[in-house]
Amino acid sequence: MTRTKLIAGNWKMNGLAASTAELDKIIAGAKELPSRVELLICPPFTLIDRFADRAERSRVAVGAQDAHPKASGAHTGCVSAAMLKDAGATHVIVGHSERRTDQKETDAEVNAKAAAVIGEGLIAIVCVGETEAERDAGRALDVVGTQLAGSLPAGSTAANLVVAYEPVWAIGTGRTPSTADVAEMHAHIRTRLRDQLGAEGEGVRILYGGSVKASNAAELLAVADVDGALVGGASLTAEQFLPIAQAV
Ligand code: G3P
Repeated sequence: MTRTKLIAGNWKMNGLAASTAELDKIIAGAKELPSRVELLICPPFTLIDRFADRAERSRVAVGAQDAHPKASGAHTGCVSAAMLKDAGATHVIVGHSERRTDQKETDAEVNAKAAAVIGEGLIAIVCVGETEAERDAGRALDVVGTQLAGSLPAGSTAANLVVAYEPVWAIGTGRTPSTADVAEMHAHIRTRLRDQLGAEGEGVRILYGGSVKASNAAELLAVADVDGALVGGASLTAEQFLPIAQAV
């Protein structure tokens, strides 16, 4: 089955108003990309509104990095999916390993957040991935299977769900799994998606994330069931990000 590749940038806690200049370069470069690739930039909350205005009618979608499970209420410092939609976001990353670690997010919380995102008509990008100790112990497939079972909400479809496999030990380290390991994990995720979502599971895009850069993108994106990339550090500049999309 043909799935349009998605190259997504997760800016994490980086970016100020001046970063709009970098977004403009990404928007300009995206015009030259083939139609088989989609681009997404997920800046911090503070830039979503500005970026969404800027990227309107361009090839670049704008997303967020988290959402509260509730639509509104007494939750100081939190932002809901409804607010993100209102600001112009179309996608929301949930369950990133940095949040699973720093904010101690559980699969059940990630599930509730993804459900809220989908409920607002947005696309949830649900992150999963094993730690180095879990891989060394031969538990990577089981760990990711458990995360998928707990984190994917009812009502997930190929249209409203993207899964991002990000081995924790590969994030920001310059290390990547072998293509054989990526292929094994993505095939495993595809099987689990078919088991959990039936025919819809075939169309869900599975991104690889963790030290993706221009020099390794072509190799990683050629692996079966790798339907795109979730890029951290190399998404912060057009110069580094666009060649990843061009490698599709
Ligand atoms: O969400 C993307 C991220 O965790 C990967 O980061 O810097 O290794 O590309 P990086």
